[in-house]
Amino acid sequence: MDAGLEKVVAAETVLSDVQGANGRLIIRGRDIEDLARSLTFEQTATHLWSGFFDNVPRDLQPALGAARIAAFHRLSPDFARIASLSETEALRAALSLMSDGDDLQAAIDLAATMAVATGAIARLKSGRAPLEPDAAAPYDADLLRMIRGDAPTEVEARALGTYLVTICDHGLNASTFVARCVASTRAGLGSAVIAGLSALKGPLHGGAPGPVLDMLDGIGSDDTAETWIRDALDRGERLMGFGHRVYRTRDPRADVLKRVVAGLPASHGRLALAQTIEGRILQRLAAEKPDRKLDTNVEYYTAILLEALGAPRGLFTSLFACGRVTGWIAHAREQLATGRLVRPASAYVGPLPAIAA
Ligand code: COA
Repeated sequence: MDAGLEKVVAAETVLSDVQGANGRLIIRGRDIEDLARSLTFEQTATHLWSGFFDNVPRDLQPALGAARIAAFHRLSPDFARIASLSETEALRAALSLMSDGDDLQAAIDLAATMAVATGAIARLKSGRAPLEPDAAAPYDADLLRMIRGDAPTEVEARALGTYLVTICDHGLNASTFVARCVASTRAGLGSAVIAGLSALKGPLHGGAPGPVLDMLDGIGSDDTAETWIRDALDRGERLMGFGHRVYRTRDPRADVLKRVVAGLPASHGRLALAQTIEGRILQRLAAEKPDRKLDTNVEYYTAILLEALGAPRGLFTSLFACGRVTGWIAHAREQLATGRLVRPASAYVGPLPAIAA
C-alpha cells in the first residue's frame, strides 16, 4: 500500500520530468527557465500538443482568438447565473456547459473558455459587466484586460504570459493524474479538464496562492513574523507556499517567478517583505522539521506576481488553470494514445460477512 502513490509510476510521458532531488524541471525536452524565457502561451500550447493532434499550427493565436469570441457569445446568457458561485466553482460550471470532444478544436475551445470565463467571472464579482475578448490580442494580454478592464502594459502581459508558461505542466501531480484517469475512460477532453480543475481547487494543490497572501497579511511585518510563524506551526498549520511532494530542494519555478515579480513596479512593497518572511519561514521549517526538507514552492511567488498584476486573490486558482489547461490536454491525449484504462487495486480492510452457523 502506498497511500500517496509517490512510489508508483503510473504513466510514461514525453511531456515533463520533475527532478525532485536537484530541483530541475524539463518540459518536453526544454528546461523550464528556457521555456519561460522564450515561449508565449500560444507557443507553449503548440510545444505540448504537437504530435497529439493532427496538424497543430505553429501559431495558435488566430484560432485561440476566434475561439475566445465564440466562447464569450456561447457563455454570455449564463454568466450572471454562474457568478454567484466562488470563482473556481464558476469556472468549473462554465466548462460544464461545453460538450465533450477529442480533437484540436475541442482543445482550443477549452483553453479559450478558461480565459473568457475567468475574465467574465472577475468582472461580475466586482459588479462590472464582462468584456468582449479581443481576437487579435495574445492570450495573456487579452486575459489580463478582460479581468482588469484596462489594457495591460507589455511588461505586465509578458509577466502573466511567463507565469502561464511556467506552470503549463508538472509531471503526474494530482490534477494531471485525474485528468489522465478520466481520459483513460474515453470520456473526452472536457471531462478530463473539469476533473483536473476540480483537483486543482484544493488548498494543498492549486488553491494555495490566495492563502499565501492571507498568511502574509496575517504576519503583517517582520517584527511580528517570528511569533506568527511559531504559533501557526504550534497549532499544526501548514505554511502556504512551502513544501512539495517531489522537490527536496527549491522549486525551480519559484525562482523564475521571483525574477518576473522583481520587474513589476507594483510588487515592490510586497516583494521586499515577502523575501524577508520567506527567509524566516525557511529557517523555522528547517529547525522544526529537520528530517523533511521543506523549501519554497511555486505558489509563494505566484501569489506576489498575480497580486502585482491586479488579479483578485479569489481568481488565483482559475489563473493557474488557464496555464495548466495546456498540460492537462496534452496528458489526456497522451493517455489516450499510449495508456490503458486506469484501474488501481485497493486493500479491503472492512469487516467480513458473518459466517452462517
Ligand atoms: N508547512 C508546515 N509543515 C509542513 C508543510 C508546510 N507547508 N509541508 C509539509 N509539512 C510537514 C508536514 O506537516 C509533515 O510533518 P510531520 O511529519 O511532523 O507530520 C511533514 O512536513 C511531511 O509532510 P507530508 O504531508 O509528507 O508532505 P506532502 O508531500 O504530503 O505534502 C504539500 C506536500 C505540498 C501538500 C505540503 O508541503 C503542503 O501542504 N504545503 C502547503 C500547501 C502548498 O503550498 N501547496 C502548494 C503545492 S505546489
